Amino acid sequence: SVELNPAVLPLDWLLGTWESDEPGEGCFPTIKPFSYTETLHFTHVGQPVINFMFNAFHAESQKPLHRECGFIRMQPGTNKVAFIIAQNSGLVEIEEGDLTGQQLNLQTNSLARISFAKKPHVQQITRVFQLRPDGRLEQTVSMATDNQPLIQHLHITYHRSS
Ligand code: HEM
Repeated sequence: SVELNPAVLPLDWLLGTWESDEPGEGCFPTIKPFSYTETLHFTHVGQPVINFMFNAFHAESQKPLHRECGFIRMQPGTNKVAFIIAQNSGLVEIEEGDLTGQQLNLQTNSLARISFAKKPHVQQITRVFQLRPDGRLEQTVSMATDNQPLIQHLHITYHRSS
């Protein structure tokens, strides 16, 4: 297998497949709270890029729900990280932020969507990925929409499955 490009070495702790532990918790002021499961894949092919795929499912029915995929890059010589993301809902976004130890704090700096995207439209997203001392990965996502200020939408923890 090809060696990890040194440009993304600070993110090597993400690589592999992660499965949610207990179901994740979804919430937002305008919706009914929900549970979901999610599998994350982080891979590379030797480029200065990490490829990712996130697939979420309904916790009870296992029905596929939200899906995202994209690429992660780092600005050489800095702790600046960029996620380039496409979502199955018709949203594309760029999130940028900093890597501090094994924690990533990201926020959207650009958003676009298909012309017939469902309303309300998302206006801002922030996320935190954190590798916990117990080896679990945690993701928290907040969002602002046309009619709600920035507030949490998702919280979930994963264990490494390969
Ligand atoms: C609802 C955005 C990830 C499940 C929503 C709404 C928005 C949204 C804008 C509508 C809120 C409203 O009506 O006021 C996003 C964004 C995500 C994301 C930007 C990623 C960054 C997820 C994930 C799941 C999920 C991973 C897991 C299954 C739901 C559910 C609802 C919802 C069940 C309520 C029902 C519905 O509107 O479909 N989301 N979401 N979302 N989201 Fe997410």
